Amino acid sequence: MSPYAHITGWGMSVPQHVLTNFDLAQRLDTTDEWIRERTGIAERHIADAGQSSATLATEAALNALRVANLNPAELDLIIVATSSPEHIFPATACLVQDQIGAVKAGAFDLLAACTGFIFGLNMASQAIRSGSIQSALVIGAETLSRLVDWQDRNTCILFGDGAGAFVLQASPEPGGLLSAVMRSDGSGADLLSLPAGGSRLPASLETVKTGQHYIHMNGREVFRFATRVMTQSTKDAVAQANLKIEDIHLVVPHQANSRIIEAAMRGLDIPHERCMINVERYGNTSTASIPIATCEAIQQGRLQAGDKLVFVGFGAGLTWGAAVAHWTGPFLPQRQVYPTSYRLWVRLRSFLRRLLRRIEGWLWGRKYPEI
Ligand code: ACO
Repeated sequence: MSPYAHITGWGMSVPQHVLTNFDLAQRLDTTDEWIRERTGIAERHIADAGQSSATLATEAALNALRVANLNPAELDLIIVATSSPEHIFPATACLVQDQIGAVKAGAFDLLAACTGFIFGLNMASQAIRSGSIQSALVIGAETLSRLVDWQDRNTCILFGDGAGAFVLQASPEPGGLLSAVMRSDGSGADLLSLPAGGSRLPASLETVKTGQHYIHMNGREVFRFATRVMTQSTKDAVAQANLKIEDIHLVVPHQANSRIIEAAMRGLDIPHERCMINVERYGNTSTASIPIATCEAIQQGRLQAGDKLVFVGFGAGLTWGAAVAHWTGPFLPQRQVYPTSYRLWVRLRSFLRRLLRRIEGWLWGRKYPEI
């Protein structure tokens, strides 16, 4: 019998600095009223100079590991879903792997824009269900504030920074991820993009001058697409799990716009109290929005062991998808683990590995001077 992939840990991290609609209205031609009415957003968190996608991801990961009571050294896999990675390469996931001391984990980034967390959950769950790994960390982490044009009122009002993480672990007990659908349609690639900085349009004076390194979006078209696919993919994932919409206790949708979420819930006949919405305080944190909303649903007591829930999202690509989970909560601790308490050791280990690599290089150079 193949094992099940349970969600046993969850954590989030957002920057302290809060930027309100009123703050934005002081520098842009916009109002708190317009932003709230069209998006449901009141404020968002913005990273300070010392923070980045990797630092937020690391904090969220350590919080999730603490809940799961899992030592980072036991992790087999780390997936970071992000559209604002630390660099094009190396992967942000590798930086997190080093920072948390996940010594035996493979680590990679996944780019499916805001749907990335759902795709990552499905990939990690499939790896556990196949029996090839025992545990995985799936993180959504973003600092989109670094990629928006702060003069463009169409986009900059929407996004916020933050990270959220889940720990998944194998168990013979039924539960965890029950189904997932992943969809994409590249014919809509131009509706939401960051045009320059890749191989198509490498950075140049021209790309900087014409604002090609910022997020470009056709808001109206994305809106229409989103309301349509959120409803359908939820139905597909629920049917795939052999459940009915009435069996779902809570939907945790991607938090882009409260109007999109409300329209999708109307299409599914799901009442307000069975849907988690917190876009008001975070804005659109892209891949981080679903795990952040889940953490808050747990804090508010809206998720109990035994509940069935749906994660559903959409994003650039275009991509969209949904996953159904049977919520079981953390495994009972066999021993207490404090993932944050050995951060000093993790830093020392990282330093020693760098030093060792230099010594190896020097010895190698002496042995083979022609190389
Ligand atoms: N303040 C005041 N007025 C504004 C603002 C603003 N911040 N932004 C736009 N307007 C104006 C427009 O210029 C336009 O004026 P005009 O009619 O004179 O041209 C008017 O308001 C209406 O603009 P619309 O674009 O039609 O407004 P809409 O109701 O569609 O709302 C919004 C715009 C909020 C962007 C909406 O379309 C939306 O949420 N779309 C989805 C976006 C989204 O979810 N993106 C994230 C995808 S996830 C990912 O992968 C990153």
